[in-house]
This record gives sequence, structure tokens and C-alpha cells, in this order.
Amino acid sequence: MTFKTALAGATLLATLSLASTSAFALTVGFSQIGSESGWRAAETTLTKQQAEQRGVDLKFADAQQKQENQIKALRSFIAQGVDAILIAPVVATGWDAVLKEAKEAEIPVVLLDRMVDSDKDLYLTAVGSDLVHEGKVAGDWLVAEVKDKSCNVVELQGTTGSSPAIDRKNGFEQALAGHDNLKIIRSQTGDFTRTKGKEVMESFLKAEDGGKNICALYAHNDDMAVGAIQAIKEAGLQPGKDILVVSIDAVPDIFLALAAGEANATVELTPNMAGPAFDALDAFFKDGTQPAKFIQTESKLYTQADDPKKIYEEKKGLGY
Ligand code: AHR
Repeated sequence: MTFKTALAGATLLATLSLASTSAFALTVGFSQIGSESGWRAAETTLTKQQAEQRGVDLKFADAQQKQENQIKALRSFIAQGVDAILIAPVVATGWDAVLKEAKEAEIPVVLLDRMVDSDKDLYLTAVGSDLVHEGKVAGDWLVAEVKDKSCNVVELQGTTGSSPAIDRKNGFEQALAGHDNLKIIRSQTGDFTRTKGKEVMESFLKAEDGGKNICALYAHNDDMAVGAIQAIKEAGLQPGKDILVVSIDAVPDIFLALAAGEANATVELTPNMAGPAFDALDAFFKDGTQPAKFIQTESKLYTQADDPKKIYEEKKGLGY
């Protein structure tokens, strides 16, 4: 359904007094990055649930972490003539050509959770958090926690070239600026996965006197933090005490770690990006309403003081 046929449909439905909360049965293509983290799994689950509840026919494509697969999926959605496309773009660059093709085919594209560096006219809207702010919240927490103590920080970055890896690093560095007692001594990608988080943390520990020289770990997501916590324990140190752990996502497993005193803080990223995305698409197809270019979700800090056991119980059945 193109925008023009959507408007014709809207008129017809209004005439027949059939308008409902979701007036159109849309066919939507969803290009998901993969399943690198618990957070990503929850986003996939929630997107499928939201589609089902709204009567959306969702065509799902798992890109297995590869941009080329996402580009292929988008081209296939365009060829199939879907009404709209959702994409969580694995990296920030290299989308211009395929986004132009979608625009020429009059298929609105909504970005989920990660940003691209393309012209804003090439997509309808983006749903996500302020990724720089998330990094800053994590950094502000650490600055306040260590006070004047000298603190060597190691950083596990997300996927190289992805907007959360770039922005969360940037926001964290902003928070540390002017606090000369805190220093990032090592920073490397762990690709947002538990396995690589553990591997890279093992190499940090080895290089830094078995970890004695490390005061804190900042991980761009909880899964890498959970992997790193395991590495810290295997090195004979106590995560959460000998090495402070701050990360992003607020997945159930990090609440278990918070409850056990093995993690110290996490910044929540909601996995429900699809709800606001479908709302925007509904309004757009109903009467042409142009959504804001960026629909921002909340970023909330949780620490050990927030009854992590209770939050774990609340979150554990939510598709993570
Ligand atoms: O783009 C959001 C990030 O991607 C999440 O923080 C991370 O867990 C995921 O893989």
C-alpha cells in the first residue's frame, strides 16, 4: 500500500465508519541485525508480538550481523512491495543507495534502536534512545562512585562502526572529561556479545597485572559485562568490588549480577521500539501524519539499591 492508496483507503474507511486504532492491515518487512545479545532477542520478540497484536503481516529477516544481508533483505522487501520497512541498522554508514531505492518505491522506512549517517529525508522516522546520553549516564555514575580516588577504567565497546558503539563511547568520555583521576587505559570491541566480552576482558586482565591495575569496567552492553564478570571471577577477583562494573541495556541477567553484588549499575534501553514505530506508521497511513524525525525512548539508571531481584522477576518473562 503506497501513501496515495493509503489515503484513498482512509477516505473509504471513514465513509464506511470503520476506523479503528489500527485501520490498515499492513505488510511490514523487518530487517533485524541478528541475535548478538539478550536485548536484541527481546526486541525481536516484542516486534513480533506487537505486529501480531496489531494485525500486521511481519516479514522477518535475520541479517546475522552482516550489513550486506540487511541490504539484500531491504531490496527483497522492496521487490515484494511491502507497505513499510523496519530496520535496526548494524552499522551507521553505507545505507544511502538502498534507502533511496525504498524512497523511490514510496516505501517508508523506520529505523529501530540504531542510527545511520544518511540524509534524514531517506527515512520516515527513527525510534531509539539518546545513545550519547546513555554513555554519559554510565560515566556520571562512575565519576560519582569513585569520588577523588584514582581509577583506571577498561572499556568494552560495541560493534565497530555501529551508532551505539560510537555514541556510548563519546558520552562516557564526556562524563569523564575534567576528572583526571579517572583514566580509560584500555578500550576494545567485544562486538556486543557475551563470548567476546569475556575473551577481551581476559586479555585486559592479563595485560593489567591480573586485573590489580583495573578499578572499573565500562561495557557498552550488559551481555559483554556478564561475560567480563565471569572472566574477572576466573582471575580470582571480585566483580562489583575489586572491579566496578557499569553497563547498558538492563537485561534480566544483569539484575541477577546486581543482586549478587557482581555488577554495580546499568542504564535501561527499552526493547519495545516497535510499539512507537507501528504507532507512527499507523498515523502516517491513516491521514499522512508525519512523525517527528526522532522518537526518543527513556534511559533510566539502575543500581544495586533498586531491588534488583524484584526487577529480575519482573523482566525475566519478557522475551530477553
Ligand atoms: O543497538 C542497541 C544495542 O544493540 C544494545 O545495547 C545491544 O545489546 C545490542 O546488541
